[in-house]
Amino acid sequence: MKANAKDVIIACDFGSTDACLSFLDKFKDVERKPFLKIGMELYYAAGPEIVKELKRRGFKIFLDLKLHDIPNTVKKAMKVLSNLDVDMVNVHAAGTVEMMRAALEGLTREDGTRPLLIAVTQLTSTSEKAMREQLLIDATINDTIAQYAQNAKEAGLDGVVCSPLEARLVKDACGEEFMTVTPGIRFADAAKDDQVRITDPARAREIGSDYIVVGRPITAAEDPVAAYERCVKDFLAL
Ligand code: C5P
Repeated sequence: MKANAKDVIIACDFGSTDACLSFLDKFKDVERKPFLKIGMELYYAAGPEIVKELKRRGFKIFLDLKLHDIPNTVKKAMKVLSNLDVDMVNVHAAGTVEMMRAALEGLTREDGTRPLLIAVTQLTSTSEKAMREQLLIDATINDTIAQYAQNAKEAGLDGVVCSPLEARLVKDACGEEFMTVTPGIRFADAAKDDQVRITDPARAREIGSDYIVVGRPITAAEDPVAAYERCVKDFLAL
């Protein structure tokens, strides 16, 4: 899969297989098959079976499990995830360059193919105050994000997860080819929910996002298919 393919990823934040599949039934007749994100909630509830079922149904999958452990453990876990044939997975950049290199090694299949691998820089829920006072990181959030993104690039990863507002910063630090996957997307005329550093799909495209991750603006919409198609149209400028 080409890294900078540009697409809309739907965050399937559901608590069960049934809830997820009945949501996806609505998309049966949609021309552009959605790219899906499975996070911790659904994966811990439904296990690898939900991934296999969605792959059987032809969806691309970003498995958002944010691995962070010693390099050897991450390497072995990545080998298991790679065998699930997912399209994209992630780790925490805070695990160090060595851990990210191990992740990449574990992910690479015998034939040399592998899912895309991206790193979480600083979670968008972490404030600079918490970073300084609790984590004793004496730097600005932006400097930390740029450094973590450069570490991910050095380890050979394909890109990072970041706020759409940080996409330019990451591209400037790591180059245009380095992928940015950005949650924190809201339509300009809608509620922000608990997200803070947000923007809308068209603006995310302008700043440099390669993939936008959209949850509640689609999953909680009155007409999820229409909301998805609006995201696609705005983000891909169709
Ligand atoms: O519903 P909403 O559009 O806010 O969903 C965003 C998705 O992206 C959620 O699954 C959330 O866990 C994920 N995410 C995020 N911010 C990050 C990393 C992941 O919102 N920094």
